[in-house]
Amino acid sequence: MTDVQQRTEAEIRQDRPGTASSRRVVLMGAGAIGATAALAACGTDAANTNPNGTDFAAEPAPAGSDGPAGGGSTGGGGTVLVAAADVEVGGGVILDELVVTQPAEGSFKAFSNVCTHQGCKVSEIKNGSIICKCHNSLFSIQDGAPTSGPAKAPLAVTAIDVDGDNIVTA
Ligand code: FES
Repeated sequence: MTDVQQRTEAEIRQDRPGTASSRRVVLMGAGAIGATAALAACGTDAANTNPNGTDFAAEPAPAGSDGPAGGGSTGGGGTVLVAAADVEVGGGVILDELVVTQPAEGSFKAFSNVCTHQGCKVSEIKNGSIICKCHNSLFSIQDGAPTSGPAKAPLAVTAIDVDGDNIVTA
């Protein structure tokens, strides 16, 4: 039994002694529970929650996610994805959720690491291409566009920034 329901029943008992177990008390208690559930549902803004339902303010956005609406709680610099020095010019690195590339010196790009063909994770970056070995699709490190193999759609672009020596979420 909830606090709201307990209080409601107690208040009713004070007003009408001897009627605590009446049908009206039960119905009013059920109404209070419904109202509480509705308020609780309104208290969570879906735009400010992580995919796991927690609040961005309480738990930072995972790398590669959209982050909180209207700004983040990461101090303005974004979440560090990788050191810029670890991203080879003309190549890139495959992270847990992203591929970060550096097609030209100082120009960094990031893409989803999920192949647009059938959803395998890309597994290698070689000769200017991001490679999905499941069915040998190749994607450009410049823009994620498919250049060979069965994939027809580009890898999803992810916004990033360069913050000092690091590549960070935008
Ligand atoms: S899933 Fe990547 S090429 Fe088929």
